[in-house]
Amino acid sequence: MRAVVVRAPGGPEALVLAEVPRPRPGPDEVLVDVEAVGVNPVDAGNRADPSWAGLRAPYVVGYELAGHAVDSGEPVWALLPVRGTTRGALADRVAVPREYVAPRPPELHPIVAAALPLAGCTALQVLQRLPLPAGSWVFVHGATGGVGHLLVQLARSCGLHVAGAGRPEERRRLEELGVDLVVDRAEPAPVAAAARRLGAELDAVVDLVGGRLASSLPSVREGGQAATVVDLAGDLDLAIDRNIDVHGVLVRPGRDRLYELSAAVSSGLRPHVTDTYPLERAADAHRRLEAGRVGGKLVITL
Ligand SMILES: NC(=O)c1ccc[n+]([C@@H]2O[C@H](COP(=O)([O-])OP(=O)(O)OC[C@H]3O[C@@H](n4cnc5c(N)ncnc54)[C@H](OP(=O)(O)O)[C@@H]3O)[C@@H](O)[C@H]2O)c1
Repeated sequence: MRAVVVRAPGGPEALVLAEVPRPRPGPDEVLVDVEAVGVNPVDAGNRADPSWAGLRAPYVVGYELAGHAVDSGEPVWALLPVRGTTRGALADRVAVPREYVAPRPPELHPIVAAALPLAGCTALQVLQRLPLPAGSWVFVHGATGGVGHLLVQLARSCGLHVAGAGRPEERRRLEELGVDLVVDRAEPAPVAAAARRLGAELDAVVDLVGGRLASSLPSVREGGQAATVVDLAGDLDLAIDRNIDVHGVLVRPGRDRLYELSAAVSSGLRPHVTDTYPLERAADAHRRLEAGRVGGKLVITL
């Protein structure tokens, strides 16, 4: 069968389409015929440098997939751990530990389903960490991105008000996603700009870009919330002075969260798939992701 293997870490060209033996599932694994695989920044990160993920080449990247269980024919999706996974999703067949696979929402095309597990579970996990009553204001850095555009939808469905920054040409898209207050991303302090427009400090800030928390904290209210999925860069002392809870979030895969994601899909959550690539062009998908401005998700089809 085919798999996209990293034999030596490096740029997108490190992704090599190879023939590999079919996996033999263990007793606690589900053999899945893969139909589509979502692309995420962590794929590129682990391709270029596997040390954070604790990998040694050769390994296969790709952590979210939609497909069919070989035994039952059931449509499934799965989210694999982004650390320690050597037999990733970019293969015709994957033996997935049972705890990471679940039935997928029947209303979604496999390409659309494959775009959801990683970014969707991350967005759910971030929101679950923030104890925000309905009506609270949350500022999202990176609201148009893979995680961001799902987090905005989920936040709105929890009754939160969302502020976000984008380029002027992204205003309409952000508003359509559900962002209530759009500020220009070129502003030196977009959260402060949002607070000025609201006439009040924000209840929470979420950093999906990196390096955005320190400059955001002055505009988060005393006792508010801050979360990041990227880094804790800069001087965060203000979190102490203002009793702001700071959350570092790493997506944790699991069946239960996939069921929660299915429920969110039933309530209307939809990813935006910007583009698809066949397996042979996985390297082009990585190039596109790393060039930025994807405005949603890229999906590799099998
Ligand atoms: N901790 C976890 O478990 C976890 C899970 C998922 C993702 N992540 C991390 O979270 C980050 C976002 O992931 P993603 O899948 O949403 O990536 P993505 O689809 O590439 O989205 C990134 C977003 O950040 C925006 N952005 C990039 N540079 C910016 C800048 N200088 N100023 C303002 N906005 C900027 C992008 O806009 P443009 O591209 O238009 O510039 C885009 O909206 C990545 O670093 C990823 O590794 C962590």
